[in-house]
Formats: sequence, C-alpha cells, structure tokens
Amino acid sequence: MKKIIWFAMVSMVVLLGACSSGGKETSNDSKKEVIQSIQDSGKLVVGTSADFAPFEFHTMIDGKDKIVGVDIDLANEIAKELGVKVELMDMEFNAVLAALQQGKVNLAISGISATEERQQTFDFSDNYFAPPQKMVINKENANELTSLKSFAKKKVGAQKGSVQEDVVKEQVADAQLVSVAKVPNLIIELKQGSIDGLVLEETVANSYIENNPELMLADVDLVSSDEEAYAIALPKGEEELQKKVNQVIQELQSSGKMDEFIQKNTELAKKAEE
Ligand code: ARG
Repeated sequence: MKKIIWFAMVSMVVLLGACSSGGKETSNDSKKEVIQSIQDSGKLVVGTSADFAPFEFHTMIDGKDKIVGVDIDLANEIAKELGVKVELMDMEFNAVLAALQQGKVNLAISGISATEERQQTFDFSDNYFAPPQKMVINKENANELTSLKSFAKKKVGAQKGSVQEDVVKEQVADAQLVSVAKVPNLIIELKQGSIDGLVLEETVANSYIENNPELMLADVDLVSSDEEAYAIALPKGEEELQKKVNQVIQELQSSGKMDEFIQKNTELAKKAEE
C-alpha cells in the first residue's frame, strides 16, 4: 500500500514538472517564433492603406509607382533592427486591422489610432504621433460653414473604418455621415461638392490642402482625445516584437529622426500626384 502511494506521489511530481516546464517552453517558443519566423522568411510583412499623406502614399520615383511616407520609414527601421526587408501590403484602411487579425501581416502601420476598442483585439506600440481632428471644406464655403452647427443637414465625409466616422457621429451629430474607403476619393467628393466637409487629422488634412488649394481647414473646434494618437498595431501577446518596435520608436524620437521623417515626407507629398 505504502509503495503504491509513494509511486503515485513520485509520478505526480514528475508529471507536474513536465507540465510546468512544457508550458514555459511553449510560451518562450511562440514568442521567439514570431521574430524567428520573420527572420527566417527574410521579410517583415506590413499592412497599410497608402492613401494618407504624409504617413503612407503613392508617388512616382524614377517613373515607377512607389509607396512612401513616415510609416514606411518607420517600417523600414523596424525591419532593419530585425535584419530583414519590408514587404508592404497596400489595402483599404477598413481591411488593415482585419488582415492583422487573420495573420496575413506581422504589423499594421497606417496612422492607426490606438483606441480602447481596438486595444481589446490588438496590442499596440507606444504612440508615435498625435495630430488633432480637423474639418476640411471648400474655400468658397468659408463664410457659410463657420460652426459645427452650420453643418446641420450637410454631408460630412470620413474614411470607412476610421475614428473620424465616430468624430462625425458624435461631434457633428446633425450632419449626415458619408463613409468612403479611400481618402483621395473623399477629397474628390469634397471638391465636386457631393460632400460639404471632411474630417481628417491635421497633418494629413494639411498635406491634401497643400495639393488642393481650393480647400481649407474650417474654423470649427473638433475635440480630439489621447486615444486618437497613432501607434503600431500588433497581434496580442507578441511581447518580444512589441519591445523591439518600441525600442525603435524611442530611438527615432530621441534622435530627432522621427521629425526628419515627417518633414521629408511632407515635402515628398507636395510633389506627389494624387
Ligand atoms: N487615425 C485614424 C484611425 O486610426 C485614421 C487612420 C487612417 N489611415 C490611413 N492610412 N488611411 O482610424
């Protein structure tokens, strides 16, 4: 009898040991695996919606269409840190976070606001930029569209799946929200007058106004929140990758390189044909 109890105890200890060390190994492995598999494949796959100057946009370089921008520079720096190349997947903004969730991309870098709602599904890096919300209008309507109230019954555009949709719904509640997949198409609609206003973050708004001088920022106050700051989205639980990403962001910020990226790409966007 004693022997049986002794045997049972010993096997329990052995089993417990096996379980705990096994568990540890799997979690270490899975963390290592992400960075390891990125390095094995030689590429960091990044999801973005290249319709958002100066963060990600198309431009012609030496007669070839290229995607450039602050976020692209950022992606390249992260890839450099990992010793790999960036592979961009350009899609509608509405699809970027879904692609991350489905594991089609390693990171989503697309001027993404790290909202509480999105944090339920994804992990985020530290914030790297925080532009306020602005309303873009046609200059010819400047005298008419002077307050948020003056947008009552007007059509106000926002990119599909963006926080700007909520800004319109919550802060320009009397207006009719028009959601469109791509920012350049919203700009066209605004210029044609099929929408009366368009909510964008300031840096992006100014970039499009620069190339479309008939547009301007309306003199109305939209409230911006900390939640709207840009961060890189990662799948949940990839702490090693998140650490690396944050390390790169911190270095770029403290060295002043992040500011250089913004200046350089703002200049590039001025020349880009939209
Ligand atoms: N910051 C906003 C959001 O996260 C808009 C981002 C749009 N980005 C883009 N590349 N079009 O919802």
